[in-house]
This record gives sequence, C-alpha cells and structure tokens, in this order.
Amino acid sequence: MKHAAGALLSSIQLDRSLSRGVSVQLYMALRDKILSGALGAGERLPATRTLAREIGVSRTTVIDAIDRLVAEGMLVSRIGAGTFVSETLENQNLAATASQGAGSEGRRPRLSYVINQAQGAFAQRSWLPHKPRAFITALPALDAFPMAHWSRLSARHLRGGRGDVMGYGQPKGLAALRRAIATHLGALKGIRCHPEQVFVTSGAQHAFSLIGRLLLNPGDRVWMENPGASGARNALLSEGAELMPVDVDDQGIVVSDGLAKAPHFRLAFVTPSHQQPLGHVMSLPRRLELLQAADQAQALIIEDDYDGEFYFGNAPRPALHSIDANGRVLYVGTFSKSLFPSLRLGFILVPERMVEAFDRMFDTWASGPSTATQAIVAEFMDEGHFATHIRLMRQLYKARHEALQEAARTLPETICLQETTSGFHAPAYLGPGVDEAEVVAQAAPLGVTLAPLRRYCFSPIPQSGLVFGFGCATPEDIARGISILRDLPALHPRRAKLV
Ligand SMILES: Cc1ncc(COP(=O)(O)O)c(C=O)c1O
Repeated sequence: MKHAAGALLSSIQLDRSLSRGVSVQLYMALRDKILSGALGAGERLPATRTLAREIGVSRTTVIDAIDRLVAEGMLVSRIGAGTFVSETLENQNLAATASQGAGSEGRRPRLSYVINQAQGAFAQRSWLPHKPRAFITALPALDAFPMAHWSRLSARHLRGGRGDVMGYGQPKGLAALRRAIATHLGALKGIRCHPEQVFVTSGAQHAFSLIGRLLLNPGDRVWMENPGASGARNALLSEGAELMPVDVDDQGIVVSDGLAKAPHFRLAFVTPSHQQPLGHVMSLPRRLELLQAADQAQALIIEDDYDGEFYFGNAPRPALHSIDANGRVLYVGTFSKSLFPSLRLGFILVPERMVEAFDRMFDTWASGPSTATQAIVAEFMDEGHFATHIRLMRQLYKARHEALQEAARTLPETICLQETTSGFHAPAYLGPGVDEAEVVAQAAPLGVTLAPLRRYCFSPIPQSGLVFGFGCATPEDIARGISILRDLPALHPRRAKLV
C-alpha cells in the first residue's frame, strides 16, 4: 500500500478461528487505531478494494466495518474523495483524555458512601451453583421438574395477544399471578391476604433490597440471624443497614440476645419456617416473643419463607404474618426453590397499612420481573400443576432426606449430620480437630460440594460444621457422595497424626 495509512492498516491481524466475525474484528481494530490516535484526524483511508486485498478479507467485510464507523461518526465518507478519519475527533487526545478521566478518580470508580461502608462486610456469593451435584444447597430437584407442562404453557402464552405477551404489564406484578400467590398462601399456610398486598419481585434478594430501600435509613439497626442468610445480609447492608448478629438456638432467633445487643432495632430478618442454615423451625412462643419485641421497638420483621412448602414432618406452624396483629411483618416468598432459580421470581406480601407505600414505589421506580414469565407461572398455578409439583417434591425431598440420613450413618464419628423436618438442606457438626475448610477443599476436587458453616456467619460461632443439600442430588449421587466423604483424610484427623 502506498497510502499513508496503508502500512499501518496492513498490519491488522484477524483471527478466523474466533467466534466473533472478521467484520467485527476489523471494525474494532480500526476503531482502536482511531481512538489511540494512530490514525490521525483527517487522515484518508485506502480504498476499500485495496484494504480488502492487503488484509486478506472480502470487500464486503471491509465495507461493513467502515459503514459502522461512519454511522458512529468516527469516519466520514466524501463522495469522489474517499473515507477520512473525522476531523471532529481530536484523535491524538482521545487516549490521553480517557486515561486522565480514569486517573482523576484513580482506576476504580468512586462508589456511593453506603456501598463503600458496606463492602468490607459482604459475604461472597460467587459459589451460587448452576449444575446439580451432591451436596449443593441452593438447587431444587431440577431432574423432577415437569418440563412438558411448562413447555406447553410457555408455547400457549406466546400464542396470546401481542399486548399481553410483549407489553409492560402491571408494575406491581401481573394480577393473575398475584391472585394465584394469595390463593396458594391461603391453602398452604392459612395466610389470609388480598392480592393487592402481593408485590412481585425478581426473586427474594430483590425483595430484600426493595424493602430496605423503602423502609430503612442508613445506620438503622437490623437483627440478623447468626448464622444466617448471606444474600439477605448483603442486600440489607447495601441499603445502609447496620447489622446486628443475633444468636440462634433450636427455637429460632434468640430474642433476648437481640434485645441485649440492639433494643432499638428497626428491622429483624428471620427464617422461621426453616432456619437458614441450621434448619430449626421457630417455636410458637419464640414467634410471639419476636412479635412483641417488634411492637415494643416499633420495628418491622422480614419473614423469609424460602422453602417453607417442603415440610415433611408436622404441618407448618402459623406464619408470623398471620399472627401479626399490628402490621409489622413483611412476608417474602420465592419461586427459586418451589420451581427453579433461573426464573428470578419472588414476591413480598406486605401488611395492609403498607400497600399504598409499596404501590407508590412500584408505580414510580421499582420494576419487577418479565411479564411473560409471570403469566406462565400464573397459569401453572391456576391449572393445579404447582400444587401437584409441591406435593410430589415434598415426598421426593423426604425420600432424599432419608437416603442421606441412612448413608450418613456410615460416616466417621467426627461428623454428625442433623435431621431436618423441611426444605432440602441439613447441617452436620464437626468434632474436635476437624477443620471445615479442609473438608470442603478435599471434597471439591472429588466432585462433592459442601458449604462450610462459616459461610453463613458474620460473627464467629462456637460450632464448626458443613451444610448438606439434598434437593438436587439423586439417591445415587447421595450414596456416591457419602462414600467419598467416608474416606476423606480431613474427617480422620487422628489417622493423619499417626502417619
Ligand atoms: C435464605 C434464602 N432466602 C431466599 C433465597 C432465594 O433467593 P432468590 O429468590 O433471590 O433466588 C435463598 C436462596 O438460596 C435463601 O438461601
């Protein structure tokens, strides 16, 4: 190429093995040269035919890339004269401007005060799983989901009126879904509520964030179960809450401990149906004590009922929401366990006195999940598939729990698996000399995932332990997983000492 820019452009290397097309690669390479100033303002590009020959691509590929840069204003095409780097771009300064811009704040963006304060205390959640395996805690039985019904309903929904299928939908959630949720709560938990009290969210985490944003001020004190739910902890921290770790015993959150640490609390976060992660069901006296404490402090309660559908012991105790006389309890539900997590679908059942405030929030700035997904779930519920699925999963989780308990009897006495009466995870406590992190690290490469109890703690607790999920693990996965753990060196500390 004789052209001034020619030598520069002929050095462009394109990789045909990349999934990104050559035209996109060429566009990016040209753009980089303009932004870095290597191609100066006003400089003329070689003819497309010459460029194509030199770079070894078709002329159409070159024209595509150049058209895109012309559309973005980086290049200018003048009929009869050729294509030029835009004069309006001060190319030589672009790279410098970009680095100066970053430099004035340092390489990292300036974060909000609240997030800056909070982020040191965030729990890691990068472990959230995609694929079933023994003993993952956060996945339901994906293998037992009635995909055929689901696909049929999805296809039917897409054949509906375009407005219903493609429009925005109601901000607080589809009326049909809110009705179905209210009916489900009545049938499952005896919760009497009106669909207007139901607000559909993108999962429980979204619900916690919205509640925090609407009802908390930075620095408000929030009781959190310790050990407890790490996602909720992060969501409330992000809204400026000052979290108070409150002890948990076999009756649930220890109210007296909360009162001793933060008598003037604004909010308590609890998992009464199935304490996350220890698995206890909150006793009725403890529920009443918590409600009374909230009344006295004029505080609110988030009741996170993330897997309360799956009880296989006694029938569930009354929800806090249904014995709350003074409108203090915000009940949060999720479809991540009862259907599957990728739906990103949950809801808040708010006390009547808060409906207007939540309506205003959803009408003005909060938006919920995909309307299409909501419509499919509503039909799934209305046609009775949801109730059937819950009933079947209750039996399946009971069977998987029994299989786990049976297999765990063969484990060394350094680990003691606890029974649970609902949900699909159970903790195991570790004996002296056994390090939970070591067990987790030794089990992982052998295909067994365990959650260390420490992951759920934001203040140290005396026990060390592991959480076993059994929802997504088949009986064969369970047997295999336990046989691997049986011989794990970390569970035989004395053997290790002898060697
Ligand atoms: C305590 C608790 N609440 C709620 C959820 C569900 O959150 P989401 O609905 O955002 O998936 C989980 C998920 O594992 C959880 O552990």
